[in-house]
Amino acid sequence: MSITILGIESSCDDTSAAVIRDGVLLSNVIASQAVHESFGGVVPELASRAHQQNIVPVVSEAIKRSGLKKEDISAVAFTRGPGLMGSLLVGNSFAKGFALSQQIPLVDVNHLQAHVLAHFIKDEPNQDTAPKYPFLCLLVSGGNSQIIKVEAYNKMEVIGQTIDDAAGEAFDKCAKVMGLGYPGGPIIDKMAKEGDPKKFTFNKPHIPELNYSFSGLKTSFLYLLRDELAKDADFIEKNKYDLAASLQYTIVEILMDKLRKAVKQTGIKEVAVAGGVSANSAVRGAFMQHAEKYGWKIHLPKFSYTTDNAAMVAITGYYKYLDGEFCDIDAPSFSRVEI
Ligand code: KG4
Repeated sequence: MSITILGIESSCDDTSAAVIRDGVLLSNVIASQAVHESFGGVVPELASRAHQQNIVPVVSEAIKRSGLKKEDISAVAFTRGPGLMGSLLVGNSFAKGFALSQQIPLVDVNHLQAHVLAHFIKDEPNQDTAPKYPFLCLLVSGGNSQIIKVEAYNKMEVIGQTIDDAAGEAFDKCAKVMGLGYPGGPIIDKMAKEGDPKKFTFNKPHIPELNYSFSGLKTSFLYLLRDELAKDADFIEKNKYDLAASLQYTIVEILMDKLRKAVKQTGIKEVAVAGGVSANSAVRGAFMQHAEKYGWKIHLPKFSYTTDNAAMVAITGYYKYLDGEFCDIDAPSFSRVEI
């Protein structure tokens, strides 16, 4: 008998629902919240209100696009954490209501684990592109920068992580001081294509082991702007493409330096990337170069699975369902939780 999972994601500012049947994606609907743009960052209260407005139409649309009926769903999987509490609670409550009304099991999903398992979503039944265990996954988003050793869908070990800011935060905050929009990552990515990546040099962190740090880079970027703007008020406008390219180049260098070290230490050459920053063209380019130069077997996610989406929640829910890993109807959400 087929196993059909309805996935629900509401951890930050994307309301998403997806349907996966036997590991194959049937639908993935995402409603992004434009309301935050004018604030230069996600406003938690506005995010939870927007989730409340979006959740019913998004789930209805996902079921409709799947070509199935709600009676065909075997279980509902939802993001339990980490994330913004008010946002998480909308998905959590909706999932519980849905499970109760349909008399089906409830599966709780760790958002970070789901980003990694996005690589296992199939577009068609016989697809065999998923990474083979064990593999390393660089998880880079607005809230995380981690190197994860993945031995099974439910056996993941963080072997390196940021001690302060995440890579996505560095993109977003530096874009903000340049007066660019939010989120800054995609804007920097686009502008960097026109600039010289070697024009400006920024401090690179000296952090032990496999850990990252991006707060020093942010400060170094800020100080450069401060010093140059004191000499020329048009400095940013005149150099915006080179600033974007140099910033992106440095972030990618920092990420890949530690990843190379992780590959060397573990001897694992199967390497994936996940999370919002995995959409970055220079990150993807660096992965391809490393595949060629060092013989890595790389896995780049589809663009639709890089940012927050419910397809990754549904696939994680599918594996947990197969193992009979259900959660209680009174399961609380967690704003902070490890992988
Ligand atoms: O995974 P995600 O959607 O949300 C969480 O943080 O969980 O990641 C969002 C982050 C933002 O910081 C955004 O600027 C960054 O991913 N991002 C990018 C690109 N697309 C999204 N950063 C650099 N280049 C991109 N093309």
